[in-house]
Amino acid sequence: MKKTIKVKDKEFAHFISEHTIQRAVKQIAHQVNQDMAGKAPLFLVILNGAFIFASDLLRKVTVNCDVTFVKLASYEGTSTTESVKELIGLGETVKDRTVIIVEDIVDTGITIDHVIRMLKAMEASEVKVAAMFFKPDAFQKDFGIDYKGMDLPVDFVVGYGLDYDGFGRNHPCLFRLI
Ligand code: IMP
Repeated sequence: MKKTIKVKDKEFAHFISEHTIQRAVKQIAHQVNQDMAGKAPLFLVILNGAFIFASDLLRKVTVNCDVTFVKLASYEGTSTTESVKELIGLGETVKDRTVIIVEDIVDTGITIDHVIRMLKAMEASEVKVAAMFFKPDAFQKDFGIDYKGMDLPVDFVVGYGLDYDGFGRNHPCLFRLI
């Protein structure tokens, strides 16, 4: 296991092991399986970053479910304080469904706040959030994270789906910017 890696022009140090991450995924899956017994949730995976977390999580979920993937498009200039995001690729109807948003990391919370609002406007019956990582000191919103892997400090991290300028997603563990 490498102690440091270089991603483009920046150095990152090993931060959280693959073992610790996988233990947290297992715990989330256990919670989901308990809560969702008898329901058939739709997992809505937010691309690109959440693909690795979603792949690990979904293989541990035992309840009847389906999964779809969306990207978000941001439009600058349409709002003074926040960019407006639109779900690209959401073909499934979410009306009257339990939807579990799958996200790699919740930082300010702006992204997921938009997604929650959109799903509620589309009349999802229940919206839950599963996030592998959460930065409580950066969080600006007030939605709850129903299934959370672990809290992180506000440092910039790469690995386990998270990137720096498109690179670094492939590492199974987490590295922190030095
Ligand atoms: P939020 O809208 O501020 O919660 O931002 C969420 C998005 O910011 C995530 O889906 C990531 O793409 C990105 N992000 C936040 N923190 C990090 C980080 O430490 N490394 C890589 N990407 C991050």
